[in-house]
Amino acid sequence: MARKPKTPRWLEAARRRKEPVPEGSRADWLARALGRAGVLPRAEAEQAIQEGRVELDGRVERDPFVPVHAGSAVRVEGQPRSLEARTLALMFHKPAGVVVAGHDPEGIGTVFERLRAVLPPELRGYEWYAVGRLDRDTTGLLLFTNEERLVAHATSPETHVSKRYVTEVEGQPSQEALRRLREGVGLDDGPTRPAGARLLAPSRVELVLTEGRHHQVKRMLAAVGHPVRTLHREAVGEVTLDVPEGTCRLLTDAEVRQGLDFGGPA
Ligand code: URA
Repeated sequence: MARKPKTPRWLEAARRRKEPVPEGSRADWLARALGRAGVLPRAEAEQAIQEGRVELDGRVERDPFVPVHAGSAVRVEGQPRSLEARTLALMFHKPAGVVVAGHDPEGIGTVFERLRAVLPPELRGYEWYAVGRLDRDTTGLLLFTNEERLVAHATSPETHVSKRYVTEVEGQPSQEALRRLREGVGLDDGPTRPAGARLLAPSRVELVLTEGRHHQVKRMLAAVGHPVRTLHREAVGEVTLDVPEGTCRLLTDAEVRQGLDFGGPA
């Protein structure tokens, strides 16, 4: 049975907004702001609001999409909570098998479930957004953040934040195949941007991309005659994976600013 399309949250929130968003501030709504500030992850925030456990500016507020700003006075179960939020990012070492999606129809599991299982208590109140996607069978570095603008920055085709992959392929790529990978391969959605490509072993290729199209590494390697057997992401920008599989760590502010080139100077 076809699912009824759900109104996206941002649209729901925009409908509730009566005033234009003042210049220099951002459009935000209560449930999302609670998730970004680490008070309650968004679904829990929506439930708490609907159950009447959240007050806004002195009154119980039951609308998760009501507009708020960083200075709004919020209480959750009577406790004052700040909506001030700083940008946080986590590296997670994705194992093979799990999906980067909210639900896994095959029942193996999602990266969100795996991440929640290893998050330290002080980070469990945040809503964590995955920064881009990796295929179910791909392992390696997956970033998460509480800031949707960091997701847009790191995944936008305009910003060219690099992604470094190591792949085991069928056969032994020639220098000509590597040259094609570097200079651009014709795919059905257009030619790829110039990339870094080098052999680490006869059947192991390191590929550095500055774009992130669907199944891009697999499609590029298939196009030069060397289908991917395994795929692992080692780095995003200057941030290199350094935690064991299935675990995570918080990035430092410098890693976010310089490593991912996000946000202003200190
Ligand atoms: N390219 C792919 O083909 N798969 C991934 O998971 C990431 C990049």
